[in-house]
Amino acid sequence: MTGILELRGVSQAYRLGRRSPFVTASYLQVLSNVDFAVRTGQAVGLVGESGAGKTTMTRILTGLERPQTGQVLFDGKDLWEMNAVERLEFRRNLGVVMQNPRSSLDPRMPVGSSLLEPLRSLGIDCDHVARVNEVIEQVGMASSVLGRYPHEFSGGQLQRIAIARALMTRPIVLIADEPVSALDVSIQAQVLNLLMDLVTDLNLALMLVAHDLSVVAYATSRVSVLAAGEIVETGQPLELFSRPKSKATQDLVAAVLTMEAGLAGRGLD
Ligand SMILES: Nc1ncnc2c1ncn2[C@@H]1O[C@H](COP(=O)(O)OP(=O)(O)OP(=O)(O)O)[C@@H](O)[C@H]1O
Ligand SMILES: [Mg+2]
Repeated sequence: MTGILELRGVSQAYRLGRRSPFVTASYLQVLSNVDFAVRTGQAVGLVGESGAGKTTMTRILTGLERPQTGQVLFDGKDLWEMNAVERLEFRRNLGVVMQNPRSSLDPRMPVGSSLLEPLRSLGIDCDHVARVNEVIEQVGMASSVLGRYPHEFSGGQLQRIAIARALMTRPIVLIADEPVSALDVSIQAQVLNLLMDLVTDLNLALMLVAHDLSVVAYATSRVSVLAAGEIVETGQPLELFSRPKSKATQDLVAAVLTMEAGLAGRGLD
């Protein structure tokens, strides 16, 4: 089955150290022969320890970085062979949510203006104010928040606003890189629930990236495990939890269980 957004055989290496004719170049292999697909109406998870290459994968999927080898396909078209019109269409069809909502929203602008910005920069012709009101409601907030500034909100509220911003152009794919890791545990489930509802209501393709297996297991139906730049295992969350095959998956499961066992041991369960 093919996806709306896909990586095929993608590898990426970064050159290390200074460029000098006296130094032999050395490279850090960050991704090796990665295949990955995001499908319409489905939430897929990508999990792996810090440094595994998750953010590099999202940068390649969003077209911020060009892979050394392999292809990025959007709706079957190679991202790096698109003309300007196709590239613009791709950018409209893609929403990105990052780890820290404070860095994706301009602190000097009321949030309503931040929400308008993608419509302006990508030249979307519609009733902009009506669209802002519609989207802020879709993320469970009142339009009275639009005149307020980022510092007036909690992390969870700001992440909702950042999600609203990502939805402004009516994307069909949403990529969320660690969207809840900067939030209080008590707020994490609310933001994940919102993302899950949006997948259903808007028939989105969602890629959810996290270093915590329980986060992706909660919110997605298929999870890939990335370890040292390779996808080592893909499966349904329950399968991965109950029968982890790779060492990397076993370590991720143990990390979750250790936390639960620790809490239970302290009488907090
Ligand atoms: N521009 C770059 N130049 C050199 N090395 C880089 C660059 N970007 C990332 N790296 C290295 O590539 C590896 C993968 O980084 P990446 O940010 O993709 O990991 P990650 O899985 O997102 O980690 P985290 O969970 O900490 O966010 C790391 O070793 C990182 O130091
Ligand atoms: Mg990362």
